[in-house]
Amino acid sequence: MALLEIRNLRTYYRVRKGEVKAVDGVNFTADRSKTVGLVGESGCGKTTLAFGILQILPSNARIVTGEVRVAGELVFRAPLTHELKFLLEQDGLGDAVQDMLAMRAAGMQADKASTAANELMPILQQEASLIEDAQQMIANGQADPEALKRDLLDLAERRERAWNRGFTRRAIQRSQRNRMQTMRWSQVSMIFQGAMNAFNPVYRVGDQIEEALEAHMDMTSEQRQARIQELFKLVGMTADRSEGYPHEFSGGMKQRAMIAMALACKPDLIIADEPTTALDVIMQDRILGEIRDLQRELDLAMMIITHDISVVAEVSDRIVIMYAGEIVEEGTTESVFERPSHPYALGLLEAFPSVKGPKKKLRAIPGSPPDLVNPPTGCRFHPRCRFAQDICTRERPELIEVDTGHRSRCHFAKEIFSGSLA
Ligand SMILES: Nc1ncnc2c1ncn2[C@@H]1O[C@H](COP(=O)(O)OP(=O)(O)O)[C@@H](O)[C@H]1O
Ligand SMILES: [Mg+2]
Repeated sequence: MALLEIRNLRTYYRVRKGEVKAVDGVNFTADRSKTVGLVGESGCGKTTLAFGILQILPSNARIVTGEVRVAGELVFRAPLTHELKFLLEQDGLGDAVQDMLAMRAAGMQADKASTAANELMPILQQEASLIEDAQQMIANGQADPEALKRDLLDLAERRERAWNRGFTRRAIQRSQRNRMQTMRWSQVSMIFQGAMNAFNPVYRVGDQIEEALEAHMDMTSEQRQARIQELFKLVGMTADRSEGYPHEFSGGMKQRAMIAMALACKPDLIIADEPTTALDVIMQDRILGEIRDLQRELDLAMMIITHDISVVAEVSDRIVIMYAGEIVEEGTTESVFERPSHPYALGLLEAFPSVKGPKKKLRAIPGSPPDLVNPPTGCRFHPRCRFAQDICTRERPELIEVDTGHRSRCHFAKEIFSGSLA
């Protein structure tokens, strides 16, 4: 079982002109003791995906579908009302709705047996009754699909309003906050994008790390101090540095301190969001090397997020490439670098110089990532794609397996993989 499992996650932001589909149907896993690199240009939804895992999304965000599990335990699942409305609006009354209801009913049995059962109970009870009502409606209403769809949408709306008003919403929020708070730092921790400014300028860096230890670890004050000293040494700083204030730290040192903070509670998974973007190349290289050494030494799972594919070449076992809210290519680092099979991956690889290998002409990908309120039809990359055909404007490609564990979301994935199109 993978340490982190994300299934069909959709995270949308409400904005004035509609909804930004920042993460739109993402399946993602991170394995124990491995590093996975998540790559894509700025604005592709990488940070939104990470914030969804940690449940630290801003208030205008809404998880529309999907679920997140860590070590098999449910961390978060989209409200059933969101999922039902989404499917009805997308597919009308296809099998998808009934399949989803059946799956949720089955999943509920597993949740009732899990360690989180008590916290989840108020949600499970509400959802069980919604599933029952919806299934009843479907059984009775097959004669008039249009009316049935309206009734079901209406049911989802009414339930959502009732849940928002009443006890359930608060109970759900409280239980999710509790679950995530125990998990945050101690199971999953994050090195934030722009970590430079993540420390509070008026407190000593060591004290800020101690605060995390105090909240999440059962330690005496002496044990905490010893742990802080140990952490500073681990990330290559002298222990007395923990007495310093953030402004006394250089960029590289702040980044190291941030890594120390992320390691503090011995998490199983660290998410590093653009961990080296603000650093010069030499420091970038050094910090990446250290992250890699720590990952091996401490046997961690790492998820490294970056817009620069060359950053993850050396440190990742697997690469996942995201474009416009979707995963467009994934595979082992070796196979993605050797045989990129999505035009976007080709573009990313051509845009950065390679240290090894023959000299090549650098080429930028034309245009920029699309507006995610109204993403392009068919393949979201088609307006920027040099191979685009008619089908690409019409049909959304599925992730196609081109080799074992290597997938590409392109109608011509196999041709690109085999080199007959490049
Ligand atoms: N709070 C927000 N409200 C509305 N839109 C947002 C918000 N945060 C991010 N977005 C939009 O969501 C999309 C994905 O953003 P983000 O996840 O930050 O991408 P990345 O980390 O890949 O650069 C972008 O179009 C961005 O403008
Ligand atoms: Mg980001």
